[in-house]
Amino acid sequence: MTHVKVFDTTLRDGEQSPGVNLNQPEKLEIAKQLERFGVDVMEAGFPASSQGDFNGVREIARTVRNVSVTGLARAKKSDIDTAWEALKEGSDPRLHIFLATSPIHMEHKLNKTPDEVVAIAEEMVAYAREKFPKVEFSAEDASRSEPEFLVRIINAVIEAGATVINLPDTVGYTTPHEYGELFRYVRTNVPKIDQVTLSAHCHDDLGMAVANSIAAIENGATQVEGTINGIGERAGNAALEELAVALNIRKDYYQFNTDLVLNEIKRTSDLVSRLTGMSVPRNKAVVGQNAFAHESGIHQDGMLKNASTYEIITPEMVGVQSNNLVIGKHSGKHAFKDKVEHLGYELSEEKLLEAFTTFKQLTDNNKEVTDDDLFTILTDITTDT
Ligand code: KIV
Ligand code: ZN
Repeated sequence: MTHVKVFDTTLRDGEQSPGVNLNQPEKLEIAKQLERFGVDVMEAGFPASSQGDFNGVREIARTVRNVSVTGLARAKKSDIDTAWEALKEGSDPRLHIFLATSPIHMEHKLNKTPDEVVAIAEEMVAYAREKFPKVEFSAEDASRSEPEFLVRIINAVIEAGATVINLPDTVGYTTPHEYGELFRYVRTNVPKIDQVTLSAHCHDDLGMAVANSIAAIENGATQVEGTINGIGERAGNAALEELAVALNIRKDYYQFNTDLVLNEIKRTSDLVSRLTGMSVPRNKAVVGQNAFAHESGIHQDGMLKNASTYEIITPEMVGVQSNNLVIGKHSGKHAFKDKVEHLGYELSEEKLLEAFTTFKQLTDNNKEVTDDDLFTILTDITTDT
């Protein structure tokens, strides 16, 4: 098995989903759950974009110790300095710098020549390495860039100290075969590529983000980037839970693994959906409400005889509780704590007691308390600073 690192960008690219705006306690709650989920790197935000983002990234870097926390920066000294201030207390700080490399972006967005773009990338990566032990360079819009130019800029930034090279499919334009070819080309033509991590970052505009990510892995990517529930800019990013389950279920075919803890998937998905307000479509792979539901009589009959007739993923594997505990007026603190943890919250004893008291008051009026009621209680308690 070849190990593939997982870079989660739910709190940066995911938060760029139109309509999503997470506050600091919400971001921290998600960050802690991502740590439990086992991601290798988490992009906590874009520190130079706002004071709120700066504060959120700094708090996550201070709190999350088992995952490398990163933040995004444009290829500008001021962005790099701001990111360093936000990330420097992290246990394994790293920077993520991006600069566009496609003709269309260089000409119309940056208004720079290819030579100028290479010079800026080189200078800013070297500048970042004066502070950060690890620097990821993203060639924005890589999938629409000239492969020869990509090789040139990648060689230059590796010499300047980049430790990770990311080739984003920024606009979700590529196809699995084409994206795989790009990775193969870069692996073959960049002499020092084995000294760095090579990363894939896919968007889902044509519905191929997960397939494209897997094609990249098959052709030499050693890191894959994505978000929980596939949320993100426009049609979103590669859904990490789909990717992890696909690699696991088809390990007979792919021979790649990640450190993701599969039975944390449902809890992570629910938490992100709840806090971002982005509901998961019923028919979404792996985490949709219908992913383990069987409607046709023939399918139900098959399921009763042997579940593997129609189910390739077991609900337990991804943390879907088949015996969902109903929490109500007779529930004690132990069951309540279990439920709270299942919903993805980790509360101090004091906060747990506070939540339990509010919950008990609610059960005086309602026989059954729904997950939505619990989320309301927990959100109030965790955002009450
Ligand atoms: O999609 C993209 O190109 C990005 C970069 C900032 C890496 O998100
Ligand atoms: Zn992106």
